Amino acid sequence: MPQNKEVPQITVLDAGGQYCHLIARRVRELGVYADVAPSETPAAALAGRRGVIISGGPSSVYDPSSPTIDPALLASGTPVFGICYGQQLMAHLMGGTVTQGDRGEYGFAQLDIENPDVIFRNVSGRQQVWMSHRDLVTKVPSDFRILAGTDTCHIAAMGWPERRLYAVQFHPEVAHTPCGLTILSNFLFDVCGCERDWDPAGQIDAVEEQIRAVAGDRNIFFFVSGGVDSTVAYTLCLQALGAGRVHGTYVDTGLMREGETDFVRANFDALGAASFAVADARDRFLSALNGVTDPERKRHIIGEMFVEVQERILESEHYLDGHWILGQGTIYPDTIESGGSAKADLIKTHHNRVAGIQKLIEGGRIVEPLASFYKDEVRVIGRQLGLAAELLDRHPFPGPGLAIRCLCSETSGALEPLHAAGAPEAGRQWLIPVRSVGVQGDSRTYRSVLALETFPGSPDEAPALINQRTDVNRVVVAVRTVAPLSTLRVEPASLTQNRLDRLRRADAVVRRLAHDSGFDQTIWQFPVVLIPVGTADRPDSVVLRPIDSVDGMTAQAVRMPTDLLDRMARELSAVEGIAAVFYDLTNKPPGTIEWE
Ligand code: XMP
Repeated sequence: MPQNKEVPQITVLDAGGQYCHLIARRVRELGVYADVAPSETPAAALAGRRGVIISGGPSSVYDPSSPTIDPALLASGTPVFGICYGQQLMAHLMGGTVTQGDRGEYGFAQLDIENPDVIFRNVSGRQQVWMSHRDLVTKVPSDFRILAGTDTCHIAAMGWPERRLYAVQFHPEVAHTPCGLTILSNFLFDVCGCERDWDPAGQIDAVEEQIRAVAGDRNIFFFVSGGVDSTVAYTLCLQALGAGRVHGTYVDTGLMREGETDFVRANFDALGAASFAVADARDRFLSALNGVTDPERKRHIIGEMFVEVQERILESEHYLDGHWILGQGTIYPDTIESGGSAKADLIKTHHNRVAGIQKLIEGGRIVEPLASFYKDEVRVIGRQLGLAAELLDRHPFPGPGLAIRCLCSETSGALEPLHAAGAPEAGRQWLIPVRSVGVQGDSRTYRSVLALETFPGSPDEAPALINQRTDVNRVVVAVRTVAPLSTLRVEPASLTQNRLDRLRRADAVVRRLAHDSGFDQTIWQFPVVLIPVGTADRPDSVVLRPIDSVDGMTAQAVRMPTDLLDRMARELSAVEGIAAVFYDLTNKPPGTIEWE
């Protein structure tokens, strides 16, 4: 599908930073259409842009394989704004000095503006900014001026206003930099002279026109998941072509949450979708997963099973013949292979691609109406289309579903005390012999869990506990147990109907209470995990994992209000087979959001 805008006013050059899409999102929030392109994009290909932003990234400019930009860009007259690594790159390419920091600086800093400039219009005095860097610029290129600094970073902003080149070491795109949006806005409107041209809801007619153009006289079929993206994409196609020409199939894997299939069906019925089918594949998924404990094996088997089921549907519905094309809910970040993700160590695999679908893609028989939108823009479009808030505001849910939240074990063992005998409750620590996935130093870990008996006094304590040990990547606190932790055991457990049902019931309790209290609106995602820790009558425990995040790449563990937690723990303890309720205090890194 072509871009909604042929020439964006702003392009963000991706230097491998996790924040690169966030920068483009912020620019769009300010009403200016922006896209993301590889950092090495030739200057000639960027002609016509009002401005270019160079993102941050994990590299050092002195590393020979680090991302760079076409130096001609800096001499082209186009305004350029470098952020973090982008500032270091600009300094390096223009004759300044970048020095390797010995400690790095991660977190809040106070910015002092030394030379007022248009980039700091409406930003004055001392400002809180967010820093995340090791290297730093120690000498600006000639013709540049230092505009602002912090106690530890002398050159936190620099500029050559006559050439409209600016750069900052901090991250204006994150919420932790309160003046960040003002600085970005100054760059867009005062430096680049951008015009407001972007409103996602205003794009609906154009998108529908594109759908009609791509489809021609062919019909469109979807594999819908019930999530926001595939439902909005489906609805756009339905509006563009009419109900008779758009088919949707939802595969019921048996790994979904309580009431999910009915919820999806009700949503599609409300759309007036004449052709919507549920393919019941519950038995096939469960028997394929029988006896499997390893997280990546689970993902692989689920991926393969999706392939089999989808191939069968493609064949039985004759979707591969010339009358049909495939619709997908792909959104903008999924279409860009960023430097960061291309080079990243494999933490978790995602879904396999069906051969038949690959054939359709290669033949150009695919329509992706949301390919130039971000998630929050998809929600805006969904609202404009009249879709229910209940659907649009849903938290993300992983494709393999509850299978990767139902932990299994091949071995047995007791919880191991790590504290001295007679330690007070607040000092007791236990090692739970259940392993979960983590990400440390950009690599995958698979380690045990440390359990505390009371909440630590400060949020820094859990990360410190993990740093002290090499055998754990996660810290939880025991919120409520039916028996002392010393009596709980891990026993061999696999993915059975019984355990999936138990997890589904626990998840439904959490979802109801989080929804009714409004807590779910304050967080990004709330996985509920079942672990085989318990007693003879109650063989499992529940872990609560509410987190906040921007894009799932990093996440903070969130503490919920005590009264809500008490109520949740009480209701969960009444679920059949549940011995204890734990609360996960681990940020990402070092723990991943999901346990598997
Ligand atoms: P992690 O656990 O890697 O999760 O910190 C980051 C985000 O990705 C989701 N997730 C998945 N989504 N297939 C998916 O479609 C998967 O295999 C998968 N694993 C994790 C997770 O829910 C979180 O939002």
